Amino acid sequence: MPPSILITRPLPQEAMSLAQARATVDLYAGPYPLTKADLIARLRDKGGLVCLITETIDAQVLGAAPGLKVVANVAVGFNNIDVAAAAARGIVVTNTPDVLTETTADFAWALLMATARRVAEGDQYVRAGKFTRWEWELLWGSDVHGKTLGILGFGRIGKAMARRARGFGMRVLYHDTVRADAAAERELGATFVDRATLLKEADFVTVHTPLSPETRHLIGAKELRQMKRTAYLINASRGPCVNEAELVQAVKEGWIAGAGLDVYEEEPKVHPGLFSLPNVVLAPHIASASHETRLKMATLAVENCLAVLEGKTPPTPVNPEVLRK
Ligand code: DGY
Repeated sequence: MPPSILITRPLPQEAMSLAQARATVDLYAGPYPLTKADLIARLRDKGGLVCLITETIDAQVLGAAPGLKVVANVAVGFNNIDVAAAAARGIVVTNTPDVLTETTADFAWALLMATARRVAEGDQYVRAGKFTRWEWELLWGSDVHGKTLGILGFGRIGKAMARRARGFGMRVLYHDTVRADAAAERELGATFVDRATLLKEADFVTVHTPLSPETRHLIGAKELRQMKRTAYLINASRGPCVNEAELVQAVKEGWIAGAGLDVYEEEPKVHPGLFSLPNVVLAPHIASASHETRLKMATLAVENCLAVLEGKTPPTPVNPEVLRK
């Protein structure tokens, strides 16, 4: 009998067809994310789950699915899943790294550019019919080329940001818990510094850490006060890495020049203080949202799910120790 899987959102057709060819698929296609009760009810008889970051897969959900072998997240981040609880039950968790690296860095870069060069404000100005003549003093922003980029979190996406910065003739500083090897530093022209130095010297601080207890509120009042008054903060990682209330205060009071955000502390809620700040560019968590990349993410998640159910090694497990048991 083919394995049975729950997919919590319609995925691109190629990925759906792959799943349907090798499994019995229960597809939830409602307009809102599944409620916890519905998720538990539909998961009860499933061997696999393909889910998104809108689903919280906690110990209660996992405990209610006795036949569950794999949770395949369609995302690189997996803070929506209790990985320890899954491992304790012998459930494999997988994510979708690599396929979204460049697309996410493209978007973080777009946020950086939009923030520095006031693209959103310009758009609103034109749409409001205010562009009645060319004005010398209109919407002056900040240069990006030749400035210093500070990258917090030097994983795949952080490194992809460093590559972009090279093309803009920027000086690149980075900080991470583990220092990159000398060859990577040379190739990317990136210098390892401590966090305080990075915050003090960067014109743009961009966050690319996963969310963990250690990175929650990595940036708060103390760090924002260490940044230059002319510097910008970019966050396309996870909202809780930045203390949003303290960021609002920092921008309002001019401790920093502005921010570009794709993610929020209590998504989809956005701190109301952000709405009135013209020097903050806000996006609705879309950094990996390109046609090409979303198809690759969906396909990889389905491949991960099917591999586990067919007794093979999934391409990108998060808790590979479960496979060795
Ligand atoms: C990810 O992959 O973690 C994104 O934030 C959601 O697609």
